[in-house]
Amino acid sequence: MRNLKATIVSLKTSRFLIGRLVYTAAFLIISIPEYLASAQKRSELWYGVRYGKDYHQKASFTLENRYPDLFSICQNYFNYRSELKILSFGCSTGEEVKTLSQVFPKAEVVGVDINKRSLRKARKNYENSKVSFLHSESMNFKNASYFNVIFCCAVFQKTDNRDQSNHESKYLFSKFEKAITELDKKLNKGGLLVIDHSDFLFTDTSLFRNYEVLDAEGNRLKRNRPYYDSNNKRVSSFTETNRVYIKISDN
Ligand SMILES: C[S@@+](CC[C@H](N)C(=O)[O-])C[C@H]1O[C@@H](n2cnc3c(N)ncnc32)[C@H](O)[C@@H]1O
Repeated sequence: MRNLKATIVSLKTSRFLIGRLVYTAAFLIISIPEYLASAQKRSELWYGVRYGKDYHQKASFTLENRYPDLFSICQNYFNYRSELKILSFGCSTGEEVKTLSQVFPKAEVVGVDINKRSLRKARKNYENSKVSFLHSESMNFKNASYFNVIFCCAVFQKTDNRDQSNHESKYLFSKFEKAITELDKKLNKGGLLVIDHSDFLFTDTSLFRNYEVLDAEGNRLKRNRPYYDSNNKRVSSFTETNRVYIKISDN
């Protein structure tokens, strides 16, 4: 089954028209029932069209406690300081925010997403006096600042870029860097920027000069997924990088 799927995926970029037609037909046969059955999947398609140019990852898959290692690295860094303000950028349906509010019970946690259906679900399930959710294009989010931690997990990527035969990124480095630059303005000096499951490296951005790698056990991780350079070219079939950075300067 896996071999069949890999063969079909490889036809996407076939130099033969017939190969690309077989891929499109297989894609439609597999996807249509999936989209008919899932309102969440349809929302990814709908908001993908509506906010296309601002979108990073469209898929909204998420889990509670998905990054226990990252949460505990941040907990150790702040040493149970209570007055933290935490941002989960690309929070999807809110499970990451729920976990963060459990790991940091006294913190104010803000979840932000571009998919309004995900936000409605998140608000319904998890909103309370310390937890709120904002749309990424809202004025409230544009004006939000003074965060102590910003999580961007599984946001700065495209599923297509996981295809090991892909040599050029389907998602532009300039878009990644622009988004990170906006988020950087919202982060306090001494705060932490957490980036995981990304198609690009934070160390390749011009912003990295204002940051240091957080010296913490488990920060550096090797993942079996390709990454791309600032010219959108694939560098390697695996990614080995740190994920937590301290902001050391505002300039
Ligand atoms: C795979 S989910 C990641 C959820 C969660 N952070 C996690 O790691 O489990 C990616 C999320 O990023 C959101 N997203 C994509 N582009 C965005 C943007 N420009 N602003 C805010 N959220 C965005 C998607 O709507 C989706 O919910």
